Amino acid sequence: MKNNQIFILFFLSILIFLSSCTKSQKNIIRIAHNQGKEHPTHLALLQFEQKIEERTNERYDLQVFPNELLGGQRETVELTQTGAIDIAVGSISLLESFNKAYSVFNLPYLFNSREHFFSVMNDPNIMNSVYQSTRNAGFVGITWLDAGSRNFYTTQANHPIMTPEDLKGLKIRVQQSPTNIRMMELLGGSATPMSYGEVYTALQQKVIDGAENNETALTRNKHGEVAKYFSYNHHAIIPDILIMNAKRLYGFDADTQKIFLDTAKEMNLFQVEAWKEEIQVAVKEAKVMGVQFYYPEILPFKEKVLPLHHEITQDPIIKNIYEQIQEKGN
Ligand code: GCU
Repeated sequence: MKNNQIFILFFLSILIFLSSCTKSQKNIIRIAHNQGKEHPTHLALLQFEQKIEERTNERYDLQVFPNELLGGQRETVELTQTGAIDIAVGSISLLESFNKAYSVFNLPYLFNSREHFFSVMNDPNIMNSVYQSTRNAGFVGITWLDAGSRNFYTTQANHPIMTPEDLKGLKIRVQQSPTNIRMMELLGGSATPMSYGEVYTALQQKVIDGAENNETALTRNKHGEVAKYFSYNHHAIIPDILIMNAKRLYGFDADTQKIFLDTAKEMNLFQVEAWKEEIQVAVKEAKVMGVQFYYPEILPFKEKVLPLHHEITQDPIIKNIYEQIQEKGN
């Protein structure tokens, strides 16, 4: 080997050594979610990223991956369990597979009103134990994010859903959640679970006849291009939870841990405000896309699914959370 080759080799090894040192000093925190870059959750996460980087004097480098870039919601929750990802957004529907404490939030018509919903989600006496319920599974909840109310919508090849009978024979996409699947059974439709990113193509290719979600699915996920009938039957208010790998969070020193938790709370306030505007914009935009909004009578839907409240509260842990939620609604 010539002298200059030896020098280049030596120089390269020093560079590699130095870059590995800087990497370990500057900790990378990977955050994954399944919404687009305009969605309030993404905007709130960008703010979370910026604030934490500032507050930790750039000791941490937070990287937000939207649009299912790191996988569908189920995969990213699993990756957060193992620590391959540090933080992810998981719908409560999906989280019920990781701990039954979350199941109760999937009950249709659980909350009397948005106010009832807010009073529960903002009550640490209820939510802290729910957030901690998955700690042994590898992750904990650190705050919640608004995802509005869920409603049925169908493609042009079908008809608007005005009564539960209208769901008969229709394949409706639901989230990957046993409670959601059971709800569809009770309503008479055929539940087709799949991840969010697959829904547009499934609607377009008529693999499914409809889905259920909030209004942003029509605009941000473009479902309104293929599904023109949106019925406000408001069967569920199911928020998202910001989850974090437990080892990572509890491995921080007390100050850093506090920065992450406090900033998560601030993120919640920002997201909830941004959500209000987002829904107004989504309805306007969906109308321009040709989506029609319908207002069916709620009671017939409610009557069909109320047996699910009884079924699910046979479990004492679920019953306990259910009763605390009910009390807040009185
Ligand atoms: C909402 C929710 C997401 C969820 C999605 C779905 O958009 O915010 O977390 O993944 O619904 O229906 O899958």
